[in-house]
Amino acid sequence: PRVPTAWEQLRQRCEQCQACGLGATRTKLVFGVGKQDSPVLFVGEGPGQQEDLQGEPFVGAAGKLLDEMLSIIDLGRDNCYIANVVKCRPPGNRDPREEEQAACLGWLYEQIRLIQPKIIICLGRIAAGVLIEKDYRITRQHGQWVRKDQVWYTAIYHPSALLRDLNRRPETFLDLLSIREKVREVCPELYE
Ligand code: URA
Repeated sequence: PRVPTAWEQLRQRCEQCQACGLGATRTKLVFGVGKQDSPVLFVGEGPGQQEDLQGEPFVGAAGKLLDEMLSIIDLGRDNCYIANVVKCRPPGNRDPREEEQAACLGWLYEQIRLIQPKIIICLGRIAAGVLIEKDYRITRQHGQWVRKDQVWYTAIYHPSALLRDLNRRPETFLDLLSIREKVREVCPELYE
């Protein structure tokens, strides 16, 4: 029999996880999608209702907007990777609690270790608080670039926030242009 790949093993272990209470209430695990060795990784917060039902990140209303944002950067779901801080849906769309994030983070770190991205784009405050700095201020710091351990990090407003607050779209557009420039500079292989 074929030996499962590192990705298959990771997903299988993640499917079994009951490290926090969310594993018991979710419908489907939302592990992540995309190109498993992409230089560009997007990290959201956690599954919503549609994601929970379908098992895929960003398939609801916020996902449609994310697809438009990706096209501004000349990217698509097939050449980047999309994951979340927590892999199971918090009931009623509440934010994932600190202890749920802490319990789940190991999976994201394992994904990052396998992907080895050059650029990580945090979607919203929660992902930025986990991956860039604790107490990240999205209103003040969005669009800024931080380099840590050979990886470029930035954060933009979460697509759900952009659905609620149209005023944040112009500055997000500028952030997306900056991301496009960085991707072109750091990941020319994506356009070959
Ligand atoms: N919001 C997120 O943060 N992640 C998803 O997968 C969907 C909505």
